[in-house]
Amino acid sequence: MQIKSLVNSALLESFKKLNISPKVTEASEATKPEFGDFQYNGAMALAKELKKNPREIAAEIAEILKQNEIFEKVEVAGPGFINLTISSSFISKKLPEALNSRAGVLVKDEPVKVVVDYSSPNMAKQMHVGHLRSTVIGDALANLFEFLGDEVIRQNHIGDWGTQFGMLIAYFEEQGEEAGKQLSDLEEFYKAAKKRFDQSSEFANRAREYVVKLQSGDKGCLKLWREFIDITLEHCQEVYDKLGVNLDKSCVRGESAYNDELKNIVSQLQQSGVAKESQGAVCVFFENSENPLIVQKADGGYLYATTDLAAIKFRVEKLGAKRICYVVDARQSEHFRQVFDTAKKAGIAGDDVQLEHIAFGMVLDKSGKPFKTREGGTVKLIDLINEAIERAKGFIKNADEYTPEEIENIARVVGVGSLKYADLSINRTSNYIFDWDKMLNLDGNTALYMQYAYARINSILNRAGEFEQREPILSDELERRLALKILSLEDVLLKASKEAMPHLIAAYLYELAGMFMKFYENNPVLRDDVPQEIKQSRLVLAKATANAIKTGLKILGIEVLDRI
Ligand code: ARG
Repeated sequence: MQIKSLVNSALLESFKKLNISPKVTEASEATKPEFGDFQYNGAMALAKELKKNPREIAAEIAEILKQNEIFEKVEVAGPGFINLTISSSFISKKLPEALNSRAGVLVKDEPVKVVVDYSSPNMAKQMHVGHLRSTVIGDALANLFEFLGDEVIRQNHIGDWGTQFGMLIAYFEEQGEEAGKQLSDLEEFYKAAKKRFDQSSEFANRAREYVVKLQSGDKGCLKLWREFIDITLEHCQEVYDKLGVNLDKSCVRGESAYNDELKNIVSQLQQSGVAKESQGAVCVFFENSENPLIVQKADGGYLYATTDLAAIKFRVEKLGAKRICYVVDARQSEHFRQVFDTAKKAGIAGDDVQLEHIAFGMVLDKSGKPFKTREGGTVKLIDLINEAIERAKGFIKNADEYTPEEIENIARVVGVGSLKYADLSINRTSNYIFDWDKMLNLDGNTALYMQYAYARINSILNRAGEFEQREPILSDELERRLALKILSLEDVLLKASKEAMPHLIAAYLYELAGMFMKFYENNPVLRDDVPQEIKQSRLVLAKATANAIKTGLKILGIEVLDRI
């Protein structure tokens, strides 16, 4: 349920009754427990405007708020702050909702059609660590939107068109009989072709001829090209499956899919006056940038930007998207700013369509340099995932109690979860320092901490056996605050969805687990001397906490285990 919006509606109602219209219309979370749960700070500015005493205005608002059943305490403090405490009986009445299969979170009133463009690797090479963030963040966002009721279309905008394919085809032809076998390691094949390309101008010329042949639809070239793409996609799928990322063939709509549209896009831009010719090329110029966006080169070739404009057209017209999220490296910010600007100016995307670059920082090693293998090469994603799984095995308690299959499964859930959580728990706009020790750690904001917390609560519930799932008695402040936190999940998810910030969910889960641990240390649940009614109330709190953790982690793409 949306606690925060209930508080804000109560505020709005009081403004109406008093016939006032303050600039600040919303409450914020209280900064300290002694200030209650929420704080309203708008009375001071309003008083200034009306030349009145701020405490008096605050008192008038407070008087009205006091009549609302959701508040237990409404206090005016300091120069005119209003401190709000949510009522225990209200929280207790609502808590059973948090036990349902959606952890009490409702589906949005106004769902939208969202396209999430993520992962989108370039073909003919293996996925490397640079693709980790887009894949993991994009998938979490798609899950989040979907959970809240939006209609989500996942799009893998793979880089499957370009001059590198001429090079690969030329090399394939040159290798004759051997070529088929070599393709099993496409990475090596690509490297070898590149080496040939750099060393021999005769080979490079042949490669360029193949590009032209491929682009004019030569059957043989197209067949080989298709083969390169299929092999690469198979590698990608292996990574997606291992990561538990919801991408498959049906999500793939690569750059090549837009080939036939590029010409139209350029003429649409020219006709609408958005693009002009400049030194033989077709460009869009911007007031606030020195660099134009080139949509067609002087030699007639189209570019990355042209394809992206065609993709926007497709997503708006054919898919009906109202929100399009591009989960791409922050280094492409200017590209997207210009592409979005152009799409809006040319009417490719109307005012009712929201275009968002969901930018993220780089993956760095502990010393702050780009993350590389010991030899200085790019780190293959599949190797990284396998290493995470191997390392996770060290965290399984009482490993001898499990079958080898169970060990594999636990290690996968923990290893992959840790890899994802480490990325998702930081603000995406920051660079991400890749650090195994920090990632696979029981203390701190990690997947392991969350998964252990879940398993621990689960074991308490198992020991308890059956209990009645009804309104809990909230016997002290620890319990009241824990329950309120559980009920805040929906507020957090809505904010994370609006801002496209998955780390808000991780931060919430970490706080929730911390509050549970504190509650559990102080308030015994299963001890014999605990009265029956209190015991069952505490079990309801435990169960609702576990449910919120499981739900939140699931949205982030992370599984839980009943035992670790
Ligand atoms: N293939 C691109 C790259 O690796 C990312 C594509 C992102 N999506 C898009 N619509 N431009 O840099």
